[in-house]
Amino acid sequence: MSTSRPQFRNIHITQILGYRLPLAGIVSILHRVSGAVLFLFGLPLMLYALEQSLVSEMTHANLATALGHPLVKLLALGLIWGFLHHAIAGVRYLVLDLHIGTGREQAKSSARLVLILSLALTAVVALKLFGAI
Ligand code: HEM
Repeated sequence: MSTSRPQFRNIHITQILGYRLPLAGIVSILHRVSGAVLFLFGLPLMLYALEQSLVSEMTHANLATALGHPLVKLLALGLIWGFLHHAIAGVRYLVLDLHIGTGREQAKSSARLVLILSLALTAVVALKLFGAI
């Protein structure tokens, strides 16, 4: 059967720009990247912050000052978005693993839901973090 739609199999590096990744593909890549970032930076930073908060009153106060800086807040927000995306997309994968929602349209909708939910929750955290609520 002939079709006019381009078909991509094992795409070549030169085809990358012309390849329109489906929403589920974007969610998948972000899930992998966020997992790696959480593991490589999120965990060490959280453990370091926990240590600094416990060592002495002075390190606790220094940490509080650092966390009040807008750039540090932005960095924290990036990690929080990474966590929210990873957690929500992770739940989506666990549900897919149960063979629920594997149809094309359902999978597309749930991928869209993951992106909307993670961004919306991140926006709420941002408002709280920057004192707007
Ligand atoms: C509620 C929290 C979380 C949920 C529901 C979750 C869920 C998942 C799932 C289902 C997978 C497997 C995805 C697949 O089949 O390809 C996965 C992979 C992974 N997770 Fe999580 N996760 C969570 C938190 C975390 C945290 C906090 C970290 C890091 C500190 C992390 C790091 C990773 C990494 C590195 C992978 C491998 C990614 C890949 O190879 O694609 N996850 N997660």
